Amino acid sequence: MNAVQVDWSYDELLESHPVEEPLFAGGVRCHGGFDSDGNYVSPRTKNRWPAIRAWQEQRAAQFGTPLLDIALDTWPGAYPSVAQAKFLLRSGVPDPIIARLTQIGTVEGFGSMIRYSQIPDLQRCFDEPVQGTGMWHLGRGLYEAHARDEAGYKGEGGHKQMWFAARDIAFEHPLTEDQTQTMMDRMFAYGGGPGSGSSSLEPFFPDVDYDLEFLIWSMARLLLIEISAFHIFAWAEEVLADTDLVAGDGEAAHMVSYIRADEAPHVEYLKTTLSEMRDRTFVASSGARVPGTEVIGRIWERARAESVGTRHESNVRLVRGEIEHALESRPNGKDLLAEFDNLAA
Ligand SMILES: [Fe+2]
Ligand SMILES: [Fe+2]
Repeated sequence: MNAVQVDWSYDELLESHPVEEPLFAGGVRCHGGFDSDGNYVSPRTKNRWPAIRAWQEQRAAQFGTPLLDIALDTWPGAYPSVAQAKFLLRSGVPDPIIARLTQIGTVEGFGSMIRYSQIPDLQRCFDEPVQGTGMWHLGRGLYEAHARDEAGYKGEGGHKQMWFAARDIAFEHPLTEDQTQTMMDRMFAYGGGPGSGSSSLEPFFPDVDYDLEFLIWSMARLLLIEISAFHIFAWAEEVLADTDLVAGDGEAAHMVSYIRADEAPHVEYLKTTLSEMRDRTFVASSGARVPGTEVIGRIWERARAESVGTRHESNVRLVRGEIEHALESRPNGKDLLAEFDNLAA
């Protein structure tokens, strides 16, 4: 008899560990906190981690297939690189780095949208039972926990506020609200706007429930963003830990490490739910059966190609635009840009 608990309530999945000391970032109460040994504890993980592990074990035992995954080196490293970012800071041009941190925080805030995802009746969409799986819990706490982690909840800051706090600690409150808005308008004009990028409006599988295909597209894209973001975390931690170049005695880098820790359950539940779908048989509206390997395989492959292709390029363009904007008003701007480009690995 399998004693591992796979059914969890909404409230259980949102439950946090008690913490000894809450996390404050730039005077704002944020989620998570520290245990009695001073270790950071991610929010809403008291049951979410054991649940994800249980669904993973259950899936491996049932299907014996590997978990869907993709290597971090699928994507090039961060742009600008650590060396290029430090060069800008040393040259007295912090604005592109400030803009980058603001952009990351803003995009994290969009994560709250996930709670509005349309989730169809999943059991109707699959041949095999789905109760007690990760996918069964998407609308039963997993998406809500994810939304709260990214955008904060009630009086508690989430990643959006934590990135802004990291920026404000490192650069000593560099922006007013108006400046932030102007910067974001400019950046998203270069990049084509949040959520832009090529995407087929035509469903790949017209016979499969449209909401389900849409849900899979969003999960695949989100997982690719979550995994590739580890390059950004490594970059930000290294740049913000340089106490010669930024303020705050390394506190901003610590803040980024807390955010990074919170991302791990996002990556794991998304990998798990996509794998659960891949291992099952889709029931199309005509009653036809479509192997999950085909549905998930085709969507994942296209989303992966977009992520390393058009999406990556549009992000580099957006960041590049900010760097050129900051340098163009400087008398030695052209020389600095040439030196910056020479530092590209
Ligand atoms: Fe996040
Ligand atoms: Fe995340």
